[in-house]
Amino acid sequence: MLISGEPGAGKTRLAEEAVAGLAPGRVLWGRCQEIEGAPAFWPWIQVLRAYIRTTPGERLCAELGDDAAELARLVPAVRTRCPRAAPGHETLDPEAARFRLFDAVTMFLCTIASAGLLVVVLDDLHWADSESLLLLAFVARELHDQRLLVLGTYRETELRQSRAGARAFGDLARASHCLTLTGLTAGDVGEYVLAACDRAPEPESIQAILRATEGHSSSPRWSSFSVSEGSSTRRHLVPDTSTFQPRCTR
Ligand SMILES: Nc1ncnc2c1ncn2[C@@H]1O[C@H](COP(=O)(O)OP(=O)(O)OP(=O)(O)O)[C@@H](O)[C@H]1O
Ligand SMILES: [Mg+2]
Repeated sequence: MLISGEPGAGKTRLAEEAVAGLAPGRVLWGRCQEIEGAPAFWPWIQVLRAYIRTTPGERLCAELGDDAAELARLVPAVRTRCPRAAPGHETLDPEAARFRLFDAVTMFLCTIASAGLLVVVLDDLHWADSESLLLLAFVARELHDQRLLVLGTYRETELRQSRAGARAFGDLARASHCLTLTGLTAGDVGEYVLAACDRAPEPESIQAILRATEGHSSSPRWSSFSVSEGSSTRRHLVPDTSTFQPRCTR
């Protein structure tokens, strides 16, 4: 599943809320970085590393099976956690080596998921390297009948991968459930304020909120949202002393 939207639209928060009820070991996060120098597969390295570090050795080695050496290419700690793992395969041409790696990661995730629902969250995919996106597309094709959910978030406005990455992203978007977070409408804002302060806001207040927040429920300016009541002011969200104080009518 892919969640897209503008910066601050609430993509990460939605993903966090979606997995909040799951046991810690059943959710694996990978966060893409804008920083230069991040290694290829960085979000996947985080996902795998988190699991490899926290899973008891015996179980981990059983789950890795014959693919331990492949996974060690991404997370070298596999070698110390599973020292008796079989050595890697002979040198392969790059395409074959990549296929073997993708298959090993996919099989590993499916093995983990066979014990119960597993959610992999890949945040900020607009910064992902193209190899990571190719691996994601590979994994996505194997998800049928698995208790494995991959949740990806991205800013649609900031996709600037290589051509291969863009193609992988296109395939991925077509094959996934996609959710685009958009701003709140005037009606949404009215309902939100009604729920927050128990009174319907005046139309000009709604317009002022829309202008200030651009319709994002996550806009920092909501923190300054407060409601005038006669001579006093009640603050309904995060207390703030800023100037933004729309009026509510009874
Ligand atoms: N529905 C919501 N209700 C209240 N706060 C929210 C909601 N959605 C998001 N927020 C808050 O708004 C802020 C921005 O949200 P979030 O980080 O999820 O945005 P984002 O879409 O992931 O942005 P970016 O593209 O920069 O990663 C966070 O502090 C988050 O907790
Ligand atoms: Mg985010």
